[in-house]
Amino acid sequence: FRCSSSFSGAPKHIEHFSKFSPSPLSMKQFLDFGSINACEKTSFAFLRQELPVRLSNIMKEINLLPDKLLTTPSVKMVQGWYVQSLMELLEFLDKNPDDHKVLGEFVDTLVTIRNRHNDVVPTMAQGVIEYKEAFPQDVATNQNIQYFLDRFYMSRISIRMLINQHTLIFDGTTNPVHPNTIGSIDPHCKVGDVVQDAFRSAKMLCDQYYLCSPDVILQEMNLKKTSHPITIVYVPSHLYHMLFELFKNAMRATIETHESSKNLPPIKVMVSLGDEDLTIKVSDQGGGVAFRRIENLFSYMYSTAPAPPIGDQKRPPLAGFGYGLPISRLYAKYFQGDLQLYSMEGYGTDAVIYLKALSTDSIERLPVYNKTALKNYKMSQEADDWCVPSKEPLDLSSYKVTK
Ligand SMILES: Nc1ncnc2c1ncn2[C@@H]1O[C@H](COP(=O)(O)OP(=O)(O)OP(=O)(O)O)[C@@H](O)[C@H]1O
Ligand SMILES: [Mg+2]
Repeated sequence: FRCSSSFSGAPKHIEHFSKFSPSPLSMKQFLDFGSINACEKTSFAFLRQELPVRLSNIMKEINLLPDKLLTTPSVKMVQGWYVQSLMELLEFLDKNPDDHKVLGEFVDTLVTIRNRHNDVVPTMAQGVIEYKEAFPQDVATNQNIQYFLDRFYMSRISIRMLINQHTLIFDGTTNPVHPNTIGSIDPHCKVGDVVQDAFRSAKMLCDQYYLCSPDVILQEMNLKKTSHPITIVYVPSHLYHMLFELFKNAMRATIETHESSKNLPPIKVMVSLGDEDLTIKVSDQGGGVAFRRIENLFSYMYSTAPAPPIGDQKRPPLAGFGYGLPISRLYAKYFQGDLQLYSMEGYGTDAVIYLKALSTDSIERLPVYNKTALKNYKMSQEADDWCVPSKEPLDLSSYKVTK
């Protein structure tokens, strides 16, 4: 166990590494790191610089959070993990990449770091809940926290991606289940298969909880090669995550609006491949959501779900923190895609995942700490530049022109 005084140099290191911008990798670069020319030394040399850069960039932003959030035990704990992981990585800066022992230790350190950060999302969520309970919510703080958490979780997704690629590729074994994957990337990811997998898992949860579940109808549109299943160069676990969340939501909505009827309307999935986009639409007839509420469904602060206790394995199966949609949207955005909800209140919802069809377009989307980011944390206190509609109808009689 390290004495905490050895972390006293941390602010200086954070200052130094946050001056560098993170280097977004393309899908092609990820594949090259793991293909024939796979070179553990190169990957090591890249990561021992890039990981501290990504960590430090986001640590600067943690420091900009409202004081009352920053000082909650949960956020303090997360901050501590980041400092410790940064310091552990810096140990490798003056080590020799030609030394096999060093490379082995580096993999071990990455695994330790990954495990240390496993609970970052529920712990940060806990911090937000503590803050929310103690202080009246205001629009400005909500915007601040939304801006920060989107960037913070995106940074986390990217750091875990880098760690996963290195540890999976250089642990000396091939993946027995998916021998053709390169780390966590499948160069021929069959989208339809992932849809079916995610649907089956959601269906199982749904059956357990509600004793019934809607069916799925899957349709693929591949205009160029009609007979071929649609594939994409992608991280199947990311795609699975998004679809699983969308299916859980669609099933819950479907069942809760059709409680009385025996026939549940099926969930329809359309996968379509174009020149630029690979689009996946998940349509349900679950009654929909009012347009006004849509934006809030992606909010970390206004998420409706009550807090499940941390470490509790028996979470409610189809609804948890209320982070399903915002985190799924981050996964979609991570490789330059998006996730949007189109709803018709009274009928149902279409959730659409947009991905880049071409691996050359799939490039990491990363937050960078700079003046613009800083400005975004400072700005939100200002007044809205659109009028607030009044609830009372304006009394026009006072404007009457006397004749
Ligand atoms: N297809 C849908 N139809 C109707 N309402 C939906 C649909 N998808 C989401 N919602 C609404 O949006 C809310 C937020 O969804 P989200 O997936 O982010 O969180 P959650 O489902 O409440 O919890 P979890 O973290 O387990 O996903 C849901 O609670 C639900 O009220
Ligand atoms: Mg959900």
